[in-house]
Amino acid sequence: MVSGQIESKLVNPITDEKNDEKKPSRRVRAGKVEKLTPGTKKLVEDKHEDVVVVNVNGEYFAVSGFCPHAGGFLGFGYLEGHKIECPMHSWQFDLRNGCLDGMENCSPYDRLNTYPVIVEDGEVFVEFPAGA
Ligand code: FES
Repeated sequence: MVSGQIESKLVNPITDEKNDEKKPSRRVRAGKVEKLTPGTKKLVEDKHEDVVVVNVNGEYFAVSGFCPHAGGFLGFGYLEGHKIECPMHSWQFDLRNGCLDGMENCSPYDRLNTYPVIVEDGEVFVEFPAGA
């Protein structure tokens, strides 16, 4: 920068992001890999949303911890393959996309939020979106 110039960055008033800078996502630790064995579930409490981390045959999924129907706790849900069944009224959700089982285009009212899960150095992390 030449002396006397003022450094400025454009700010998007909607996103509050400067230029094209991406805010980093936020990782929250779920636990050690050896504790989250296949078939186990674990509640991860977070300010953004409480989620349930599930291990299905070595593949991890993180979904909303509470059912969109009437708030059933999915930490007590039943697992069957890639499905989790709410313990209250037996709605079943696909862990891969959060949708009610059998629905391809589901709305926020009939699906669970899903989050990426990252395994690093023997630890499992849920990745929440930037700013969450
Ligand atoms: S609260 Fe989950 S199916 Fe009713």
